Amino acid sequence: MSKNLVLVLTTLAGLVAAAPIQQRGVLDAYNNYRGDGTVGAGWPDSSAWGSFDQLWSANLPLIQQSCGWNGWGADNSADEVNNIKDAITQVSSAQGVDNRFVLAIMMQESKGCVRVPTTSNGVTNPGLMQSHNGSGSCAGVSSCSRDQIFQMINDGVAGTSSGDGLKQILATTSSHYGGTSSAAYYAAARLYNSGSVDYSNLGNAFTSVACYADDVANRLTGWTLALSLCIV
Ligand SMILES: *[C@@H]1O[C@H](CO)[C@@H](O)[C@H](O)[C@H]1NC(C)=O
Repeated sequence: MSKNLVLVLTTLAGLVAAAPIQQRGVLDAYNNYRGDGTVGAGWPDSSAWGSFDQLWSANLPLIQQSCGWNGWGADNSADEVNNIKDAITQVSSAQGVDNRFVLAIMMQESKGCVRVPTTSNGVTNPGLMQSHNGSGSCAGVSSCSRDQIFQMINDGVAGTSSGDGLKQILATTSSHYGGTSSAAYYAAARLYNSGSVDYSNLGNAFTSVACYADDVANRLTGWTLALSLCIV
């Protein structure tokens, strides 16, 4: 090997080593996750999740258009969108819940449309987080206030007088796993949707949405609009 070539290779190796660790990318793709939510069963570890900023950017075009797409009224205004982002970051921090998980659950529940209708299966589920009988809602409201947006996110994260929010649910699943592992988040998604969880099979929907925990795992790695490959 020539002396010059050695010099070039040594320099290149130095550049590679000195390059900043590249931020993991998010990918709009859907993987069909089965089983118990653990990394061993193929579910993504939280180290593979996007950053909050990456996931917010990936979801922003949906948040800006989801009301119209779903026939739920006028699309979110720029102020409403900013207030959603503030509410997620501030409530998550106050309640000690990962802001990426709150964003993923919000997208799953309401596609981020402030005017999402209230649903009901015995208990009413209003607002951005389709919370457990919470008071926050802008269903049918043409201009949704910052207070209502914060109320909707808070109802879903901190819980309501009628039922648990993500905070209490994560405490439950984390104690099952002996820590807040990524599986604890996926099981929490199942529990938030179904009110029950079969820890050995997060695809067990009881009477709710079979793909829910699978969808949330995919949202955390950047899935937005790619075709869902969830097979039930
Ligand atoms: C829902 O909340 C209202 C107001 O707090 C309460 O009166 C009602 O009993 C609750 N319903 C259920 C099913 O928890």
